[in-house]
Amino acid sequence: MLEYEKVSIGIIGGSGLYDPKIFTDSKEIKVYTPYGDTSDLITIGTVEGKKVAFLPRHGRRHRIPPHKINYRANLWAFHELGVKWVISVSAVGSLRMDYKPGDFVVPDQFIDMTKGRQYTFFDGPVVAHVSMADPFCNALRKVIIDSANDLKITTHSGTYICIEGPRFSTRAESRVWKDVFKADIIGMTLVPEVNLACELQMCYATIGTITDYDVFADIPVTAEEVTRVLNENAEKSRKLLYEVIKRLPDKPDDRECSCCNSLKTALI
Ligand code: ADE
Repeated sequence: MLEYEKVSIGIIGGSGLYDPKIFTDSKEIKVYTPYGDTSDLITIGTVEGKKVAFLPRHGRRHRIPPHKINYRANLWAFHELGVKWVISVSAVGSLRMDYKPGDFVVPDQFIDMTKGRQYTFFDGPVVAHVSMADPFCNALRKVIIDSANDLKITTHSGTYICIEGPRFSTRAESRVWKDVFKADIIGMTLVPEVNLACELQMCYATIGTITDYDVFADIPVTAEEVTRVLNENAEKSRKLLYEVIKRLPDKPDDRECSCCNSLKTALI
């Protein structure tokens, strides 16, 4: 079995965050997994004296659409490296006027409307039903929200609805997400990333950068607009990540949340 250098913080970058400029002394490694290839090579580098792993979710140059991402390989690889905190960054649409493009959202709940992904590492004969009542690590969310507040970055909480994609929603669907399901933001990649992180007992939180008002406002979302707003906000995302990494405990054993016990009540 291959031995990898240990890293406790992992960042999964979405569109617009492929360039891991926050690192000093970085190197790229391939991590082999029982689930096949990760989205790309993993970059390992140092930020604020801490080792951090970085993986672009869609691969470099955005080669992999949301429904084709090998989520199991990506999370397994982080686990193999010893990652305990996963900070995921992604583009999201807003489903309410007061959550504006350029604002950040650190969701506390999700609704899963995906249709056919690999949702679990427990495909049998070992079966596990992990609790998803509180899907995100609240300790990690707090570090992100406190960091954003101190950096004067407008940040909200809320419910993330995850659609299958790669197409955007119809106006009728968007009305359902917004007015019936009462979701606050919409994206295509949270599920099953969050479920799989939980099964591996890793702390997971996501930072959504709002890029658009989906299709409930007059002008419907376009991929072009998403990319433009993301690029405009890339520097803000980098600053926030830097601050979050600085504030995370030095030792992964210092985790005070219950994420590391998620399998205790899940196995049959
Ligand atoms: N990612 C960014 N904006 C989105 C939207 N409106 N719907 C789904 N995914 C998105």
